[in-house]
Amino acid sequence: MRLSKRIIPTAVTVATLAISTQAMADTWKMALGDAAGGTQYELGTTFADLLEEKTDGEIRVDLFPNGQLGSEQDTVNNASMGLLDLSVLAINNITPFSPTVGVMTLPYVIRSPEDARTLTQGEIGEELTENTIRDAGVRILAWAYSGCRRLTNSSHPVAEPSDLEGLVIRVPKNEIMISSYQSWGVNPNPLAWSETFTALQQGVVDGQDNPYITIDAMKFYEVQNHVTDGCYVFSLEPLIISESKFQGLGPELQQTVLEAGQEATQQSYDYLLDTEASIKKKLVEEHGMEITEPANDEQQWIEMATQIWPQFYDSIGGKEKLDQALAALGRDPAPAE
Ligand code: MLT
Repeated sequence: MRLSKRIIPTAVTVATLAISTQAMADTWKMALGDAAGGTQYELGTTFADLLEEKTDGEIRVDLFPNGQLGSEQDTVNNASMGLLDLSVLAINNITPFSPTVGVMTLPYVIRSPEDARTLTQGEIGEELTENTIRDAGVRILAWAYSGCRRLTNSSHPVAEPSDLEGLVIRVPKNEIMISSYQSWGVNPNPLAWSETFTALQQGVVDGQDNPYITIDAMKFYEVQNHVTDGCYVFSLEPLIISESKFQGLGPELQQTVLEAGQEATQQSYDYLLDTEASIKKKLVEEHGMEITEPANDEQQWIEMATQIWPQFYDSIGGKEKLDQALAALGRDPAPAE
C-alpha cells in the first residue's frame, strides 16, 4: 500500500494545508467512505496522481478517508449540490438516488471481475453514467473493482441460507440488498457504512457483507471471525464528481479529468487481480478468520435471491435492462414473470 501525502487526518492539518497550498494549486476535495488501504483509496490516489501529473500540478486532490466528510450517501447529496468535488463510494449507496444503477446490484448478475468490467466499461456503463448525471447531479468518472461481497459474522459458519437464522446482519440502506436477505429468510438491519464497525464491535449486529479487500482495510477481522466465500453482489465503487463542478471546467480540462478516470479504472482492475488472493490468505493466516464455502456451489442462495429480480424491474427501467445486462455477459434472459 502506498502512503499518501494527500490524506488529511485532522481539522488542524486541513487548515494548515489549505493555507500552504492555496497559492500553488487548485485543490479539490475527495471523500472516501473506507479507511485508507483498500480499493477506494487505491483508485482515489491513482486518480489524484494522474490528474496532478496531467495538469502539471495545477490541480491537486486531497483525500479524506474513513467517512470524514459524511456518510457515503451524504457525499452524493453534497456533490450534487456542489458542496463537495469528488467522492469514492460503493455503488449500492448511489442506487437510492439513481435507481437504474440497481441493475449492477441485483443479486447474482455480476459474478466475477470480468463481468464487472464488461458491464461498467460497455454501453451499459455509459448509459448508467448518463442516468446518474440526470438523477443525482453526479458524474461517474472511474470505477474501483473491489471484488465479491462476502458475508462475515461473529457467531458460526454459514454455508446455506438456513444458517442465517438468529443472526442480525447489517446491510447498506439499499432495498435490493435488504430484499436479498429477506429472500433467505432473515430481516437484515440497514445501517450507514460509517456506523458499521461500531455496531459489529458492540454486538448490535452479528454480521455484514463486503469484499475481502474491504474487510481487511476496515479491520473487520478484529470483530468478525467467520466468512462465507459467496458472491451475491460484486462491489463496484465509482469515483464521482459533482456535475456542476465538471460543467464549470473548460473542455480541455474536462477531457483531462475523463482520461485520468479511464486510466485509474484500468489500474483498479489490475489492483484487484493482483491483491485479492493474498489478502484472503492473510485474513486466514494472520487474522484467524475461518472461511466457509457456500453449500452446493451456492445453488440454494442463487435460486432464492434471484426470485426478487421482478420486484425491481420498474426501478431499473424494465426487465429489458436486466436482459440487456445478462446478454452482455453471455447469459440467457431472466425467466418470464
Ligand atoms: C457498504 O457496505 O455500505 C459499502 O460497501 C461500504 C464501502 O464503501 O466499502
